[in-house]
Amino acid sequence: MSEDYEPAAHYDRVTAAWGLLLGDELHYGYFATGDEDLPAATAALTSRMIDNARFEPGQRVLDVGCGTGAPACRLAADLGVEVLGITTSAVGVAAATGRARRAGLPGATFEVRDGTDNQLPDASFDRVWVMESSHLMPERERLLAECARVLRPGGRLVLCDLVRRREIPFLELRQRTREFGVLRAAFGSARMDPLADYASYAEAAGLTDVQTEDVTTETRPTFDRWQDNVAAHRDEVTAILGAESVDQFDESCDILRAFWDDGTLGYGLVTAVKVG
Ligand SMILES: C[S@@+](CC[C@H](N)C(=O)[O-])C[C@H]1O[C@@H](n2cnc3c(N)ncnc32)[C@H](O)[C@@H]1O
Repeated sequence: MSEDYEPAAHYDRVTAAWGLLLGDELHYGYFATGDEDLPAATAALTSRMIDNARFEPGQRVLDVGCGTGAPACRLAADLGVEVLGITTSAVGVAAATGRARRAGLPGATFEVRDGTDNQLPDASFDRVWVMESSHLMPERERLLAECARVLRPGGRLVLCDLVRRREIPFLELRQRTREFGVLRAAFGSARMDPLADYASYAEAAGLTDVQTEDVTTETRPTFDRWQDNVAAHRDEVTAILGAESVDQFDESCDILRAFWDDGTLGYGLVTAVKVG
């Protein structure tokens, strides 16, 4: 089992394989009907974030945890905004920079930076976009504080991520140690917080008008699509990650599906506004 659980090392290792398993957009899908293919559903989740962000052309956007840049490039291409994508993964930055160059998008740029200590100037962005990266940042209050700090007055934060939907008693945590270990090996070290905690972090950071939405049901078919991709690309992914990691990813889909179904984990969206 790989010990590379730290996010930067984990993402440097898995980026190429995840393109095959998760697709271009490295996040869950939003399935309005359940029949959509994965690219349509991941695009639909991005569309939900776009709706919440209420972009206007010319705005500056910070994408915290930008993956390989597919959402950032879509924002720059379709909405006429200028996007700086940041991630702790140098492999992610290289892939995202190549994607933007190939698409002829000088308005989408990417840098290695930590979302919990981004070193960017105060009040320098109109929108902050945090798509499925916050669960990888243990210092979540610091993440939200950094997002609020770099937002201009009147700016909006949009975030989506896995969430925890109930308390997990210590005894159960101990009993399920193996399952959590498989998830950690497949997805890296992570912590899922309740949607209500995100609202509290945002308010503590000085953001207002905090709205949350639970989309657990609509994201559930993601696991079936990921397992379809394991079956379709097993040899190629095994060549990149090794057989044990592919099996762990496959088993993770079963574990997560069960957590979705028993009300332990799910998925949510958050929006908040910086006081103008
Ligand atoms: C599940 S991927 C999501 C990628 C992208 N937002 C998307 O939707 O396609 C999580 C991303 O968070 C990044 N990440 C993890 N910890 C981070 C941190 N402390 N600061 C910035 N990015 C981080 C990872 O490198 C990866 O790019």
